[in-house]
Amino acid sequence: MDAVKNLDAVDATTSFQVKSFFDSAPLLKDAESISRKLTQFIHQNASLTGSKGPRRVVCVTSGGTTVPLEQRCVRYIDNFSSGHRGATSTEYFLKSGYSVIFLYRRGTCQPYCRSLPDDPLLECFNLTSDSSIQVLESHAEAVKSAISGHHDVVSGGYLLKLPFTTIFEYLQILRLIATPMKILGPNAMFYLAAAVSDFYVPWESMAVHKIQSASGPLDMRLAQVPKMLLVLRKEWAPTAFCVSFKLETDKEILLEKADTALKKYKMHAVVANELSTRKEVVILVTESGKVSVYRENDLSVVESPLIKLLVEKHSTYIMDPNA
Ligand code: PMT
Repeated sequence: MDAVKNLDAVDATTSFQVKSFFDSAPLLKDAESISRKLTQFIHQNASLTGSKGPRRVVCVTSGGTTVPLEQRCVRYIDNFSSGHRGATSTEYFLKSGYSVIFLYRRGTCQPYCRSLPDDPLLECFNLTSDSSIQVLESHAEAVKSAISGHHDVVSGGYLLKLPFTTIFEYLQILRLIATPMKILGPNAMFYLAAAVSDFYVPWESMAVHKIQSASGPLDMRLAQVPKMLLVLRKEWAPTAFCVSFKLETDKEILLEKADTALKKYKMHAVVANELSTRKEVVILVTESGKVSVYRENDLSVVESPLIKLLVEKHSTYIMDPNA
C-alpha cells in the first residue's frame, strides 16, 4: 500500500520536474530527421513477422551522458561508461531476432567492434607500396567479422544507430523514440544501460562563455535530473517491457537499491551490477526473485546469458502483459 501511495506522490512532482527539464533544454538539432528515421525504422519492423510472431524491437541505451558547464561548452561533467554493455547486448539482441535502436554516446564502443583494437584504422590497416589499403593478417578475422556483422544488420534494416553526447540530447531522443514505439505494443522493449547523469546545470542558469579561472574557485549548484524511468513506464511507453540498470560501487546497498527501483519505477526487470565485477556477473531482479547471471568463462561475455534470460521474460510478458 505504501509503495502505491509513494508512486502517486512521486508522479505529480516528477511530471512537474520533467516538464521544467524539457522546457528549459536547448533545442535538439536534427529532431525532425531523427523522428523521420525512427518512424520509418519502426513501421518497417512492425510489418515483419517471423516464426515467433511479430518482430520485436528493443531500444538499447549505451555510454554515459555529459553535463555541460558552459553553453559554448569547453568543460563538462561526465558519467563513466565505456559502452561495452550496450554494444555487446545489441549484438545478442540482434542474434535473438530483435531489431535494435542503439542510442549511444558518440565515441563509445560499437556493436561488432569488440575484437578490434582501440584505433582500428591505424592498427588494422597498412598502405602498400602502390598506395592501396591492406588489412594486416593479425586483424583480418576481426575486421571481416565486424564488417559483415554490421553490414548485414544495417542493410537488412534491423539496426538503427542514434548518437548523443549531453544529458539534454539523451533524454530528448529517448522521448522521441518512445512515441513511435507505442505501435509495437508489448513487442517493444527498453534496455536502459546508459549511465545517466543525476545532476545538471539548467540551460538558463548556465554560463554562456568559458568560465574564467581568474575569478578564483568555482562554486556551482547542480539541479537534480528528474528520474525519467517512471515517466517512460507510465506515459511514454506504457505497454513496452522495460529493463533498467542499477550501478553501485558498494555491494552492500546494490540489491536494496535495485529492489526499490523495480517497485518505485514499475520496471519489469532491473539489472544490478557492481562497477568492479560488472563484466563477470550481474543480478537480474524481477518480481519473481533475483537471479545471478555469470559469464561462462574468461572468453565469453555475461551479456550472452543475460539477453537469453531477458528474451524469455519478454516472451512471457508478451503472452500476458497484464499478469
Ligand atoms: O558501459 P560499460 O563500461 O560496459 O558499463 C556498463 C554500466 C555499468 C554503465 C551499465 O551496466 C549500467 O549499470 N548502467 C546504468 C548506470 C546508471 O546510470 O545507474 P544509476 O544507478 O545511476 O541509474 C539507474 C537507472 O536510472 C538507469 O537505468 C538510468 O537509465 C536511470 N536514470 C538515471 C538517472 C536519471 N536522472 N534518470 C534515469 O532515468
